[in-house]
Amino acid sequence: MRGLILSGGKGTRLRPITHTSAKQLIPVANKPVLFYGIEALREAGIREIGLVVGETRAEIRQAVGNGSRWDVAVTYIEQEAPLGLAHAVLISEPFLRDEAFIMYLGDNVLRGGVTELVREFESRRPNAQILLARVPNPEQFGVAELDGGRVRSLVEKPREPRSDLALVGVYMFDHQIFKAVREIKPSARGELEITDAIQWLVDHGFDVAPHVVTGWWKDMGRPEDLLEANRMMLDLLEPRIDGSVDAASRVEFKVVIEPEAEILNSTVRGPAIIGQGSIIRNSFIGPFTSVGPGCRIENCEIEHSIVLEGSRILDLGTRIVDSLIGKDVEVTRHHRRPQAYRLMLGDASRVGLL
Ligand code: DAU
Repeated sequence: MRGLILSGGKGTRLRPITHTSAKQLIPVANKPVLFYGIEALREAGIREIGLVVGETRAEIRQAVGNGSRWDVAVTYIEQEAPLGLAHAVLISEPFLRDEAFIMYLGDNVLRGGVTELVREFESRRPNAQILLARVPNPEQFGVAELDGGRVRSLVEKPREPRSDLALVGVYMFDHQIFKAVREIKPSARGELEITDAIQWLVDHGFDVAPHVVTGWWKDMGRPEDLLEANRMMLDLLEPRIDGSVDAASRVEFKVVIEPEAEILNSTVRGPAIIGQGSIIRNSFIGPFTSVGPGCRIENCEIEHSIVLEGSRILDLGTRIVDSLIGKDVEVTRHHRRPQAYRLMLGDASRVGLL
């Protein structure tokens, strides 16, 4: 079986965090979301992966390379515009040929991986296998209606969902899907929808097997999703200390301290990760926090947050919680007169002041 990972499109809903980078490269527990997908496919025994890329192709290529780091071969598939998930399948036919494949949306994270699902598909061999998960907000996903264990209908982001079963961004197909993607027409949002292609398979009597997943799954639709994904994935980390922790500091529970990171007169309470070369001084880093590489945190308390590469958080009197702080950001306290907030915020930023 081959793998197809979709990493094109735009990350507009994740702004401001994605102003400067592809949404699939946003780190969750200090690892780009996309890497979880590559690892999941590799773990399921898939060695040939097609990576669909669009406008952020250069960054993605730089981060992923040829795949040798995971012992997989990555073939880049250029999509000229984000014309839909089914369009991505259509242009990937020369790579996928007649083989069955697993399609994985590059902004999805499944805590349990996909190994069991691939095995199930390979032993049963339906024409398509879809994954479904119960969600509180089905109108933001593709939604399936089942009838006695069979798929009756699939609708993309319905205003009035007929069930709470959302399509998870992992699909398995045999070659029949190419017929479907050629037959369907663009949706109201102008995309060739994979949801419509699967509905086409159902309508034409092909075997579409639904699988309801019970494990944790997340798609990075909104900034809040990142914090939740971060929480889940931090919990799976194997603790290790490769940086330095001085005698006045405490490291509690599951914590990863990367090489050249320094913890000085501080407490780091896991699950948490401190990236390479970061300096934490006179501070408290609380549970569920990821601090990227090259950051400086001094005289601060921060928990349940993500701080990306190269940021500095200095001398704050109040604890930071539930926050997403982008790359090279500075948050600090000034004693200059007049005493005032001095902000330099990008478009779509959000700030909660005391
Ligand atoms: O995450 C699950 C949901 O993913 C499903 O419930 C929906 O049925 C499915 O349509 C999809 O919805 P989204 O609106 O969340 O898809 P999004 O546009 O975010 O694209 C998903 C991934 O595929 C993302 O990594 C970008 C990439 N992509 C997207 C499009 C439209 C491409 O590579 N090419 C494209 O043309």
